[in-house]
Amino acid sequence: MSNILINKMVPIVALSCLCAFSVNADKTIALTPTEVVTESISEAVEAVEAVEAVEAVEAVEASIKTTTAVVVNENSFTCIRDMTPVRHFYVDNLLGNIDGTLAAANNPKGAKYPAGSVVQLVPSEVMVKREAGTSPITGDWEFFELAVNESGSTIAKRGFVDVNNRFDGNCFACHLPAREPWDFVCESGHGCEPIPIDHSITGALQRSDPRCGEPVPQSGDWTALLKLKTMVTIGLTKKWFEELF
Ligand code: HEC
Repeated sequence: MSNILINKMVPIVALSCLCAFSVNADKTIALTPTEVVTESISEAVEAVEAVEAVEAVEAVEASIKTTTAVVVNENSFTCIRDMTPVRHFYVDNLLGNIDGTLAAANNPKGAKYPAGSVVQLVPSEVMVKREAGTSPITGDWEFFELAVNESGSTIAKRGFVDVNNRFDGNCFACHLPAREPWDFVCESGHGCEPIPIDHSITGALQRSDPRCGEPVPQSGDWTALLKLKTMVTIGLTKKWFEELF
């Protein structure tokens, strides 16, 4: 009888042991994925938080970039040849973003120049890209007419739609056809009416900018400057502008 009992109990005990083992085993197996899941969730949360933090920093940087005031005064302008040459004109960036300005200037499809950009073809005329939203109609460009001499620059005229150059031509009106996609930069073939001053004259004016010290003339500069002087003296440029408008 007791043998029978024992015989019957052994499998029960064994079974219960197995059960206990399997329960424990189940628990062990069940816990591991939970831990893994918990760990991956916290990793994911950390990753999301990190991404959010980076995005937040980028947003702040972007808002600083777009809202940084572009302060322009007579000290903003310097010897034209100290700026960075692009083709036949010069660029700079008052906010230090010269790479952004060069990227726009060298984009073959045209691009918006970043805030702070300074563009000059001749020493006395400047376009400065002001902070976003300053003057939507001029693409945030401010136009300047400078008086330059050995001791530096003074601002003769500045503004957005109402600045005329020394030949009575309105900067904004003349540059408007180049609005898209060249961001008002005329160069050649961007839709602006050509000016009567060719690159031999603009080059001669750059090489004789009085703010740079001694001129660095190339052959032909004297003739080019003489041609300009003659054009101004006999009123050819004035007549040319009268015909244009
Ligand atoms: C009669 C039209 C006309 C007027 C007025 C005029 N510009 Fe321009 N400007 C041009 C043209 C065309 C060019 C390109 C000349 C070239 O590279 O051959 C140019 C070139 C420039 C450039 C070099 C970048 C570019 O657009 O190619 C600057 C900077 C500039 N002008 C500023 C001014 C400012 C500032 C005024 C007013 C004070 C002014 N301009 C008035 C037609 C004009």
